[in-house]
Amino acid sequence: MLIDRTHRVWMAVTLVLLAAATVAYGVYARSSPEGPRGGSVPGMLFGIVASLLMLFAGLLSLRKRFPAWRLGSVQSWLRAHIWLGLLSGPLILFHSGFQWGGLLEQIALGLALVVILSGVAGLALQHLLPRVMRDAIPAEAMFEQLPIVCARLQMSADQAISSVCGAATALAPAVEQGDPASLLAGFYRQQVRSFLDPLAKPQHPLADATRSGAAFHQIHLRLSADLQPCLEKLERLCAERRNLLLQAKMHRWLHGWLLVHGPLSVALLVFGVAHVVTAFWY
Ligand code: HEM
Ligand code: HEM
Repeated sequence: MLIDRTHRVWMAVTLVLLAAATVAYGVYARSSPEGPRGGSVPGMLFGIVASLLMLFAGLLSLRKRFPAWRLGSVQSWLRAHIWLGLLSGPLILFHSGFQWGGLLEQIALGLALVVILSGVAGLALQHLLPRVMRDAIPAEAMFEQLPIVCARLQMSADQAISSVCGAATALAPAVEQGDPASLLAGFYRQQVRSFLDPLAKPQHPLADATRSGAAFHQIHLRLSADLQPCLEKLERLCAERRNLLLQAKMHRWLHGWLLVHGPLSVALLVFGVAHVVTAFWY
């Protein structure tokens, strides 16, 4: 998800609510002789509202699990999630009167902070994703698509090389001959083809743009003019393959990030409930 114009309304609503809450907190803080406290009536109201916002944010995962529900699109939910989730931060501080409380409260507060900050970090990560990948293509789909796209690159490269070298020279590990066509075919077999493979390692020599550029340049210097277009095509296909590697890496990060943000929000729920129970018990 990108923070674009579709977020304007939510941003405006959030800012208005934040301004109203800040004014209310100012009035309440001035009028309480002992300072604002989590246990006062306004303090508890802040706590309840902030907790409801967090609960609402957590409902996103239910919404995603049941895509068929007619309850607004996942995208709209995510917008609300982001802005109301952010708003819960200041509200919980208004609840505690900027005090840290005991160990339980400190843990709950710390978790809230980490969940909100990791949300911001994840969003920043999504902004870095290449445009086509951004709009909530689930990582699973990306990893299903990868072999298909690679196979297509490989096929395209096979065709290009066969058309200049002949299929037999291009793909069969024949005896090396000194002519440029065999040189190109050998380079293709030994380096390019394994890089276009879906299982290519990120450590593959052609995965590094500089090393790849140097390797292609070496071959370029030794080829006759009629073979250059084929070499250029192979270089373009390798660049596409590098792009895919990058995308796969970013999707792994996105996946990893959700494993921080999601489970910690569950921990926040647990500690929030424990805090409320003990606050009223003792
Ligand atoms: C206390 C507040 C929050 C809670 C409890 C919370 C909880 C969650 C949970 C449980 C998910 C996982 C949904 C799923 O995939 O099943 C999620 C996803 C997400 N959250 Fe939050 N979150 C909070 C605040 C925020 C904030 C402040 C931001 C951003 C500024 C944010 C951004 C996101 C994003 C971008 C996703 C990923 C949705 C996707 O594309 O799959 N969250 N959150
Ligand atoms: C995740 C949500 C919450 C967090 C992170 C949180 C955090 C805190 C913190 C840090 C304090 C200590 C303030 C101080 O030292 O003066 C506090 C106090 C308190 N909170 Fe919460 N709170 C949350 C939700 C709630 C909710 C929903 C309620 C219920 C209405 C509530 C009721 C109280 C009460 C009664 C106190 C006073 C306890 C005392 O003075 O011993 N809190 N809270």
